[in-house]
Amino acid sequence: MREPFQNEPFTDFAVTDHINDFQEALRKVESELGREYMLKIGPNRIETIIKRKSINPSHFQQLVGIVSQADTALANEAILAAASAFETWKRVTPLARAKVLYKAAALLRRRKHEFSAWLVYEAGKSWAEADGDTAEAIDFLEYYGREMERLADRQPLVTIAGEDNELVYIPLGVGIIIPPWNFPLAIMAGMTMAAVVAGNTVVLKPASPTAVIAAKFVELLDDAGLPDGVVNFLPGAGSEVGDFLVEHPLTRFIAFTGSREVGLRIIEKAAANQQDQKWIKRVIAEMGGKDTIIVDEDADLELAADAITASAFGYAGQKCSACSRAVVHELVYDEVLEKVIERTKRLRAGKAHEQLTSIGPVIDERAYISILKYIEVGRSEGVIVQGGKTGDSSGYFIEPTIIKDVAPYARIAQEEIFGPVLAFIKAANFDAALDIANNTEYGLTGAVISRNRSRLEQAREQFHVGNLYLNRKCTGALVGVHPFGGFNMSGTDSKAGGRDYLLLFTQAKVVSERF
Ligand code: NAD
Ligand code: ALA
Repeated sequence: MREPFQNEPFTDFAVTDHINDFQEALRKVESELGREYMLKIGPNRIETIIKRKSINPSHFQQLVGIVSQADTALANEAILAAASAFETWKRVTPLARAKVLYKAAALLRRRKHEFSAWLVYEAGKSWAEADGDTAEAIDFLEYYGREMERLADRQPLVTIAGEDNELVYIPLGVGIIIPPWNFPLAIMAGMTMAAVVAGNTVVLKPASPTAVIAAKFVELLDDAGLPDGVVNFLPGAGSEVGDFLVEHPLTRFIAFTGSREVGLRIIEKAAANQQDQKWIKRVIAEMGGKDTIIVDEDADLELAADAITASAFGYAGQKCSACSRAVVHELVYDEVLEKVIERTKRLRAGKAHEQLTSIGPVIDERAYISILKYIEVGRSEGVIVQGGKTGDSSGYFIEPTIIKDVAPYARIAQEEIFGPVLAFIKAANFDAALDIANNTEYGLTGAVISRNRSRLEQAREQFHVGNLYLNRKCTGALVGVHPFGGFNMSGTDSKAGGRDYLLLFTQAKVVSERF
């Protein structure tokens, strides 16, 4: 009997030994920066002429790695390699497939700080955020392995006399895995290995800004004994190979996490029936958020301010779950605002590799420009009371920014900014606060801070988000504890890290034998 799933503990960076170990991992990774990474198609490592530089967002002169880039011909080869490997991988028992995930989890746990150090250098994550990302990747491997074992058990059916009935979950076929850059290890590994443990084979097209971390994970899968062709590694521009992969007639499903714009495009392209295509493609699409924390008039205001600050500025606001709107009862609005400003001033901005940094850079130039434009929009839609400027010019640094007195339908209250920008919105009462919270096209996370039981119950029913948190922050979902996924334009509500997730990568077959 396998031990029950437990979340991987986070590293306590108050402990000197942990600090030393992490610094050693940073030094090791720093000594490996600038290397080249190739595609992996079937057993072959492929170098291309066109390459992309991956750089450190804290210090954009620093090269993290140089990554070969696929074109559509190589994308076609990757799909054919996955289709060929499917014929054998689908026959490997679920338990043997699960064991590859357990082995990968063990290897990752052993090299935990090293992987986190890559996240620091390539994604600009602070130590704690990087450690959380790696822990979540380990969790996905351990959790989905066990889930596959559960699904492989005989499933309960109603019995009838004279017949033996059985329901089995079989894999779908070739999948395309398209992750975002903001959880470049956890979400990438989670989507890939959920598909794989269910018996599918995949083409993994990593997010371009964080392709080195994905390459490192693919190397680790080799060490874990995953057969060639099961995961084909295909870095390349989404605009170059994305449509081709999605539209290919051998593609059976697409697992995507990213922006609303790209997600909707994938859903549309996947719906079209291609010549020689035998199936309806399945799309799992987890997309953006515009997440709100409501503060009620009787709330614990210290808790409210802690929750808002952590949710808004963790990883510089670059989480789909980030609080980008604080909707506060008018009776406590000024006090909550003041407390959040106070806490934000105490955040330590800096380069991600520095131990005490609590807010690092944004991911790249495109994000930097886009966020600064939103801050300019915010200047005309409210009053900037904190931040609003850029930081150290050797990286993509933007101050954590708070804009007060924003109207509920202002652009910065409606559009996903995906950066360290928080809008404060005043609500006349709790009903109005809930109306505002539900007024965007998204529905991913939300939180309510209140001491009033009937209002908490009202929010439970009326706050329309996939992940609702009461009296805590709205980020930091844990695998198995908080299955994660959103409503409305936030996606297909796939609930990653939950018991329903693997079903999305399987089809159920019923066999009835009459005796
Ligand atoms: P993005 O949509 O720009 O890119 C996501 C992926 O899609 C990347 O791998 C990219 O290369 C690829 N891509 C781009 N164009 C494509 C095309 N035409 N066809 C196929 N693939 C294509 O998103 P991002 O900037 O990487 O990530 C940030 C977004 O992800 C935010 O909107 C955030 O809210 C969302 N996100 C959602 C969740 C969730 O669980 N709901 C989790 C993390 C991030
Ligand atoms: N799953 C991540 C969180 O909950 C996005 O913050």
